[in-house]
Amino acid sequence: MYQITDPEFNTLKELVLKILGIRLSDSKKVLVISRFSSKLRELGINTFQEYISYLKECAEPAREMEDLINRITTNETSFFREFKHFEYMTNVLLPQMQNEKKNLSDTKEMRIWSSACSSGEEPYSIAMTINEYNENNPSIKYKILATDVNTEVLEEAYRGIYDEKNLGKHVHANKYYKYFDRVSGGKIKVKDSIKNKISFRRLNLMEKRYPLKEPMDLIFCRNVMIYFSEEMKSHVLKMFYEYLKDTGTLFVGHSENLFMYKDLYQFRQNTIYSKVL
Ligand SMILES: C[S@@+](CC[C@H](N)C(=O)[O-])C[C@H]1O[C@@H](n2cnc3c(N)ncnc32)[C@H](O)[C@@H]1O
Repeated sequence: MYQITDPEFNTLKELVLKILGIRLSDSKKVLVISRFSSKLRELGINTFQEYISYLKECAEPAREMEDLINRITTNETSFFREFKHFEYMTNVLLPQMQNEKKNLSDTKEMRIWSSACSSGEEPYSIAMTINEYNENNPSIKYKILATDVNTEVLEEAYRGIYDEKNLGKHVHANKYYKYFDRVSGGKIKVKDSIKNKISFRRLNLMEKRYPLKEPMDLIFCRNVMIYFSEEMKSHVLKMFYEYLKDTGTLFVGHSENLFMYKDLYQFRQNTIYSKVL
């Protein structure tokens, strides 16, 4: 079992804050040890001090940073997590969008951003919700941008292959099963008709500007702001304000709220916000 000293932990903590905007509390020491033990073993070193020196001197610093980011980020997610958000889309936002479309050009396309998409369950759930709505209504065209800073989970998201037993109660109990094909070994694969609606890209929300071409109708930023420092949260929320259409909606995670940002966002329902204009 490896140990981490306070100075070693503080150095890693500062680095993680600088590159990701993530604040690691002292209670995360055990987590850091468990996530980096295999790395120390792989490098044949015994202390975190040696690992820190290695990060400074290694031949491929960019690759090592990517590895560090992939180890430190928490990627827990599931299909139709926080189901109320998908109900709100079906009952409120999609009918609204359809009304707007009637008044505007027929080619209007809904733009959605899943900004911390992890292994893909979130953007796929969004796409399935719209497809389901489209079965019973005049079709809404849409495109989803799905981004995350962790390259490993992004690869999983792009593959779109999951353990059937982990699909969760909403897929099992509902009509969404039809959006998957069975593959071998108890696995199930998202159909291309859903996959083709989504572009997956790496994006660190810490970046000063985000390389997005068009403003968004919906932004999902769920269960990641809880890890951010207040400064990072403020940066991200200001950027979302810029990238969200005036009529747009922002979804946050169940334990996140924007009460400190009343000048930017108006409360719609628990964890659902629109822009203050
Ligand atoms: C707990 S998961 C949440 C996934 C999904 N949004 C959900 O609610 O189920 C948090 C995700 O945020 C990503 N993340 C952490 N820091 C980030 C950053 N600075 N920029 C972009 N993504 C980040 C992690 O890699 C992880 O996949």
